[in-house]
Amino acid sequence: MEFLSKFTLPGIGFILTLAFGFWVSHVGRPYNGVLFNVHKLIALGTVVLAAMQIYQWLKTAETQTLLIVLIVLAGVSVVALFASGALLSIGNVNYQVVKLIHNIAPILLVLAMGITLYLMSGKRI
Ligand code: HEM
Repeated sequence: MEFLSKFTLPGIGFILTLAFGFWVSHVGRPYNGVLFNVHKLIALGTVVLAAMQIYQWLKTAETQTLLIVLIVLAGVSVVALFASGALLSIGNVNYQVVKLIHNIAPILLVLAMGITLYLMSGKRI
């Protein structure tokens, strides 16, 4: 429980990122600059906070292969989110495809991070 509490702030950040993402999307293109930047910056802060916690944990704990695979999957999802988000804001790309990536990556991220936290908190699948 104490371990999971370290992810409260990143968890709140993630929910805010989703909320602002839906808001940016709802307002539509051209994107509202303030909403877009708030969405992007909260996402960045959330990723940094979560990465710091995971790094601290990895320094001390014995690692499992599944855990490493899941953390890499979460990392790939984050890269896909930032890249697709940037491409969406630039425009001039295949909107449907890039938007699909931006919609699927959060699902992968939640799954990968959910199982990661489950394993890291000491429980075993
Ligand atoms: C953890 C990182 C992120 C998550 C979980 C996330 C999630 C979301 C979600 C759920 C939406 C709403 C999609 C919909 O209504 O179908 C959205 C929209 C959007 N996000 Fe993100 N996002 C993240 C990072 C970023 C970043 C870094 C950028 C910019 C560089 C960005 C740019 C956008 C844009 C432009 C939209 C509006 C897309 C549209 O409907 O046209 N996102 N995001």
